[in-house]
Amino acid sequence: MNSNPSSPQSPLSSPDSAQVAPGCEHSCDVLIIGSGAAGLSLALSLANYCRIILLSKSDCNEGSTRYAQGGIAAVFDERDSIESHVEDTLEAGAHLCDEDVVRFTAQNAKSAMEWLIAHGVPFDQEKSDDGENRYHLTREGGHSFRRILHAADATGEALQITLNEAVSQHPNIHIFERYNAIDLIKSKENPNSCKGAYVWNRRREQVEVIRSRFVTLATGGASKVYQYTSNPDVASGDGIAMAWRAGCRVANMEFNQFHPTCLFHPQARNFLITEALRGEGAKLVRPDGTPFMEKFDPRKELAPRDIVARAIDYEMKRLGADCMYLDISHKPADFIVKHFPNIYRRCRALGIDITREPIPVVPAAHYSCGGVMTDLNAKTDLDNVYAIGEVAYTGLHGANRMASNSLLECVVFARSAAEHILSRLDEPGSNEPIAPWDESQVTNSDEEVIIQHNWHELRLFMWDYVGIVRTNKRLERAMRRIKLLEQEISEYYSNFRVSNNLLELRNLVTVAELIVRCAMQRQESRGLHYNLDYPDRAESATPSVLVPLKRLSNPEPGNLTGGFDQ
Ligand code: FAD
Ligand code: SIN
Repeated sequence: MNSNPSSPQSPLSSPDSAQVAPGCEHSCDVLIIGSGAAGLSLALSLANYCRIILLSKSDCNEGSTRYAQGGIAAVFDERDSIESHVEDTLEAGAHLCDEDVVRFTAQNAKSAMEWLIAHGVPFDQEKSDDGENRYHLTREGGHSFRRILHAADATGEALQITLNEAVSQHPNIHIFERYNAIDLIKSKENPNSCKGAYVWNRRREQVEVIRSRFVTLATGGASKVYQYTSNPDVASGDGIAMAWRAGCRVANMEFNQFHPTCLFHPQARNFLITEALRGEGAKLVRPDGTPFMEKFDPRKELAPRDIVARAIDYEMKRLGADCMYLDISHKPADFIVKHFPNIYRRCRALGIDITREPIPVVPAAHYSCGGVMTDLNAKTDLDNVYAIGEVAYTGLHGANRMASNSLLECVVFARSAAEHILSRLDEPGSNEPIAPWDESQVTNSDEEVIIQHNWHELRLFMWDYVGIVRTNKRLERAMRRIKLLEQEISEYYSNFRVSNNLLELRNLVTVAELIVRCAMQRQESRGLHYNLDYPDRAESATPSVLVPLKRLSNPEPGNLTGGFDQ
């Protein structure tokens, strides 16, 4: 059996029986799991004061951050205001956002951007009328003003590379690449805290232990639970599943955002066409060239994403079309090439000249609005465990994230987590022994096909039954299949050595169940959750909170459901 020995079924009783090979137990003050915008920002904010291990399951630069195109929202224009940023976020979030969190984020946005700029992130600048340099601001759906700082159409890459460079030069930050965190190690003395994590060293193919006083989940989202996604492979919801297994509440998992415009081309895996194109005037058209957005929303192409994605989905289904088209070819060619060089080049390489012809696009799973519940310090339900970035549910996004508020959330909450952790560095750490990982009963897998098959099956039915448009029946069908998969995967996990695919599949099926449970309990349509059986919006807006069974004895207010304990 593969087991975290702090779980009750572990056959190992002596924590000192050293089955973890010498040299395979590491320790630090803060373990940060994930090296995207959130993890890197936290590491840099803490590194002068404590020892950090930064984990990445692939190479350090691989994650959603690197692929972000549009930019980061913050009030820089003097005509704009914090109140307007707050209002727009609440409106896009279908009034399910936590207003205090929205205001906290909007108020801290400018200083977060200045912090990035001080670290060298090269946001685009332009000359103002009086000859001064100022940041060029672009516009995206839901924003009432030009409010998006960006580095051409490859903002994420600029941010990732700049911060990664700084992190890799800091002597207090130890980077562990190609390490998958498997599970948090709960303390027995203080069950509301953890001692570190079991991690899978992919190069050496062995489980190791990282002991740490504080652990931060910065593992990104879970959009890989869907067949079609704009996200890279690492987005398998590991942090959400780990936190849930460790006893943390999760919330609003039904709100998975589908980006309206991913490139539709057989060789263009996951390639996004940024919303900033629509911000600069691109039109959505049917295959016959007729525009259709005015039929769905007076804001047309700049309506919030849920509305645009549903409109595209509706037109595709109505016409039996493979895709719709996004047309910016009416703009001057040099404007297009200057503002969208990355998209221009990528499309050109695939034979599409965006200065002359429309771009074929389809919606794809893009962003997990729900996640691990945290407070304004980014702290989870566990005393020394934090969650930042897309893995977290802070309350900022409500039922639909407004464009470019995500990278902002990563940086703002990384900085507030850092402040909180720094204020606690004097607290004594635990010396409780850590029991070794138990591999005594497992063998190497002889049937990888089972994992591959279950992967495909899960992602396909999630797309078909729990996608842009849902019904009660589809959700029930999905849940029945999830239960079967859970059983099979759990058996497999008990019998075979861990591998990357197995670990991700185990997490994805947990995330799928959390999504479906939240979707089932929401008896209305709001934001990204659209259920044909409940087409109207309820009068009051309540987040969906799932509580692991072990926590239910002390429930807190909200739309609560007790969950499964694994
Ligand atoms: P990520 O950047 O996804 O990083 C996750 C990290 O966790 C990775 O290092 C990964 O290896 C690691 N990890 C995961 N699981 C494990 C594990 N088990 N063990 C060890 N490590 C693990 N947002 C905006 O605000 N503006 C935009 O313009 C924008 N454009 C986008 C374009 C695309 C194509 C995509 C996909 C997203 C876009 N987003 C945008 C959303 C935004 O990029 C993400 O929400 C944000 O980058 C998430 O950052 P993160 O640090 O939370 O996670
Ligand atoms: C985009 O550039 O369209 C993506 C922006 C975002 O997801 O915030």
